[in-house]
Amino acid sequence: MAGTYTFRVNGREVSTNEDKKLIRFLRDDLHLTSVKDGCSEGACGSCTVIADHKAVRACIKQTSEMAGKEILTCEGLTGREEEAFVYAFGKVGAVQCGFCTPGMVMSAKCCIDQNPSPTEEEIKAAIRGNLCRCTGYQKLVEGIHLAARILRGEEQVDRTLEEGADSGIGTSAFRRDVRAKVTGRGIYPDDIYLKGMLHASCVRSLYPRARVKKIDCAQAKKLPGVVAILTAGDVPNNKVGHIEQDWDVMIAEGDMTRCVGDALALVVARDIETLKRAKAMVDVTYEPEVPIRNWREAARAEAPKIHERGNLCQSRHVTRGNARKALAESAYTVTETFSTPFTEHAFLEPECAVAFPYRDGVKIYSTDQGAYDTRKEVAIMFGWEPERVVVENTFVGGGFGGKEDVSVQHIAALAAYHCGCPVKVKFSRPESIDFHPKRHAMEGTFTLGCDKEGNFTALDCDIYFDTGAYASLCGPVLERACTHAVGPYCYQNTDIRGYGYYTNNPPAGAFRG
Ligand code: FES
Repeated sequence: MAGTYTFRVNGREVSTNEDKKLIRFLRDDLHLTSVKDGCSEGACGSCTVIADHKAVRACIKQTSEMAGKEILTCEGLTGREEEAFVYAFGKVGAVQCGFCTPGMVMSAKCCIDQNPSPTEEEIKAAIRGNLCRCTGYQKLVEGIHLAARILRGEEQVDRTLEEGADSGIGTSAFRRDVRAKVTGRGIYPDDIYLKGMLHASCVRSLYPRARVKKIDCAQAKKLPGVVAILTAGDVPNNKVGHIEQDWDVMIAEGDMTRCVGDALALVVARDIETLKRAKAMVDVTYEPEVPIRNWREAARAEAPKIHERGNLCQSRHVTRGNARKALAESAYTVTETFSTPFTEHAFLEPECAVAFPYRDGVKIYSTDQGAYDTRKEVAIMFGWEPERVVVENTFVGGGFGGKEDVSVQHIAALAAYHCGCPVKVKFSRPESIDFHPKRHAMEGTFTLGCDKEGNFTALDCDIYFDTGAYASLCGPVLERACTHAVGPYCYQNTDIRGYGYYTNNPPAGAFRG
């Protein structure tokens, strides 16, 4: 729809000629970064704003729909409202990673505006479209009740709590970052807008196991606004990996993909729309092959090798006493097999990094669970001393283990160093789910023995991991599974064997708990 769309944002009149997603206008044009982009498809509520007294998700509204409306974001809260929410959310512990928090605050404000004394049911209904992956909803409901009481004048803000003068052992501390997170002023990498910043994203494999016959970038390179398209040959050392460097930065022509989402070409463009169009113009010719779908298929003698050294990625053997003898002498034994599936972390903030040339290397703003590991991996990719890479962590919008491996950081660094400009790389939600390691799918067969009184005598077990396409943290997690297989019980005789196999599934790695 062509035209000029005029509306008010936080009390100020604004206009745009572009009919685009409201979230893109608020974030990219007005830099109102409290409006968080968690999914871009109306599922998570992180981008909730108030439009004409209604809570709406900015990622599913167009600027044309806003014409004549009054929009409010966290940046437009009154001082009194801001103090009430900061104090209330901080006091009850309703803020953790904070990525969901500004959207939650806007839904809560809308609810309190409609009824200054909302019931628990009304509060729950108000935030039902806002997902929180860290905190749990009970504290949020308590925080909104408290904010409402403060706004009604029934309770006072106690500033000493935020100052932390009385906090210590045995007291409930007020997080230092509550104010930044509640007001939306805290910085995550996607909130960084640098002058001349380019955008980059990878063309990714559609097949879990396919020979890449050709990657044709010729047409895409001609598109105005495309700055560079890099392939495997442009990477100084085409490997990264948290512990073991077995993960190709990009799969080269002639090589085999290992999972859906493997990177094939890195497109760098001046803006996000050009980036999307250019990616669609990269023409990849595949020769698909039957993928290895689980550890049983990977363990077959005739299975094709996913990595040169074979499909057994890691193994562990943990023993104590003599389990075989103790089981043979036990009054009772039982054998059962258990399995658990891959599990997705579902952190609210998709992976994002901003990198730029810095001194004789690069600097990366990252949402990271291990800045030093990221530095190490990026340095390995460039073939540099680690000192040439500087990683600065911003806020991290949830990780739970899923942000231990590099995902966007090395790609942003590569593009920034190649182009000599700042570059932002941000995953879409589907890209995030395809790419970052999951909790391992596991299968374990356990034999337990006990004496006549029911005291455990021995445990014997085999645990099999599907570690997917790359090692990630297969070794440490397998070790954890083996050493924890006994649970909290006292055994004097154990024999625990663990095996982690490569498959053509998404990689598996760290996951809390
Ligand atoms: Fe809600 Fe992290 S605090 S998603």
